Amino acid sequence: MQSKPIDLVLFGAGGDLARRKLLPALMHLEFDELLPEKLRILALSREETNVENFMAGQKATLQAYLGEQRWSKALWEIFCQRVHYVRVEFTEVDQYEVLHQELDSASTSVFYFATPPSLFQGICENLSAARCLSQNSRVVLEKPIGRNFDNCKEVNQTVGEFFDEERIYRIDHYLGKETVQNLLALRFANRFINAQWDNTCIDHVQITVAETVGIDGRFSYYDQVGQLRDMLQNHLMQLLCLVAMEPPNTMTAADIRDEKVKVVRALRVIDETSVADHVVRGQYTSGWYQAEELTGYLELEDADNPQSDTETFVAVKAFIDNWRWAGVPFYVRTGKRMGEKVTEIVITYKTLAHNIFASHENAPNRLVIRLQPNEGIEMHMLSKQHGIEAGTALTPQTLDLNFLSASGIDRIPDAYERLFLDVFRADQSLFVGREEVEQSWLWCDRLISAWEHNRLKVKPYAAGTKGPAQSDLLIGRDGRSWHE
Ligand code: BG6
Repeated sequence: MQSKPIDLVLFGAGGDLARRKLLPALMHLEFDELLPEKLRILALSREETNVENFMAGQKATLQAYLGEQRWSKALWEIFCQRVHYVRVEFTEVDQYEVLHQELDSASTSVFYFATPPSLFQGICENLSAARCLSQNSRVVLEKPIGRNFDNCKEVNQTVGEFFDEERIYRIDHYLGKETVQNLLALRFANRFINAQWDNTCIDHVQITVAETVGIDGRFSYYDQVGQLRDMLQNHLMQLLCLVAMEPPNTMTAADIRDEKVKVVRALRVIDETSVADHVVRGQYTSGWYQAEELTGYLELEDADNPQSDTETFVAVKAFIDNWRWAGVPFYVRTGKRMGEKVTEIVITYKTLAHNIFASHENAPNRLVIRLQPNEGIEMHMLSKQHGIEAGTALTPQTLDLNFLSASGIDRIPDAYERLFLDVFRADQSLFVGREEVEQSWLWCDRLISAWEHNRLKVKPYAAGTKGPAQSDLLIGRDGRSWHE
């Protein structure tokens, strides 16, 4: 990519996110020759080391993430040439002088804060004091943006004092996933889908983000957060917005954000009177995943709070009070240590008003959008059984579109690859706007305060299963069931 020089300044380069996601994404882009030609990566960390040792420490992980097909010594050498190491204690303003000297004034600086949000304010102040900021600088913020509405506002306010909104890129990596973007294409590039996307045709929507990973090694962080704040406030909320939003006038960031924020504003508040019927909280106990024995949340080695009531699973029945979605429940659930890793959106259509096929029950169509794994779309429908003897007997059939095999590419790129490219190209359409994230916290805060008020306890579920039985009841009470 031939373009203006860019300095990508990576705060927290020694951290887990940089090792597992950011550096591998950059290296994949290097392989695909998509990185801006004059991109420098300034890896910032407080560790006393040099670039050779820093990169040597990253090599094994990067090699594993790249895979045999893509890894080569030549690629590694090219990539290493881009990387510079700058030792900075993020809270010490005097140490930013080194960074100031390292930055190229002819380049656009992109500051990437892969750090806890509590450091954002200090970093911004120190960058400013050390004259590292210019009119062209951009900033990338990792989630979580705050831990509640007030705190989120404060973070936005502070960062906003140093960067205009057009230069702030709030990452929700789900928006960078190929299939999530395909959701927009599916909805807004296909008349037959678009024309049936409302409460006259759709019975209900399910959004499931199930993870097999547990909390091992990060209990002290996670126990203060829980699954609602970790996953629902951001990733599931974004998926819900993309399913429910009105068509934006254009695909620009401003138009997309306007439509998404309207959805969040229309979400019906879940308060003390409704929380018991609309929310289920769960916490995993010991169990099995295939042949592996799994430790329960409270028995984890680093678990220092044996009474913890933090949820590792949450299911919510939500309603969007607007013209399009009136009366259509959105059942959303997410959990750690579930039986399989799956992210999917299931749209269940209403049954036909009148069934003329006496041999078969009036079954609803379902559109299953699989975000991971096996990215693709399935349409569950009825078709005639083949053969003269079958008469008019019907049988369920699935139209299955697998994105990977249909596309001819060898792999689906990781979300961070797409998001990095968009930051370099200054395209904000896949990043979260200030109002969206604040409104989302407002809704979540209200829900959390309702469950705290009503003392809605976590229900146990065995690790490696599909969550607490109460989650089946949440949807079952309405005569429906989770799509498994
Ligand atoms: C992160 C959460 O934002 O998303 C993690 O903090 C979670 O707890 C992760 O495991 C899931 O991302 P993915 O892309 O693996 O579904």
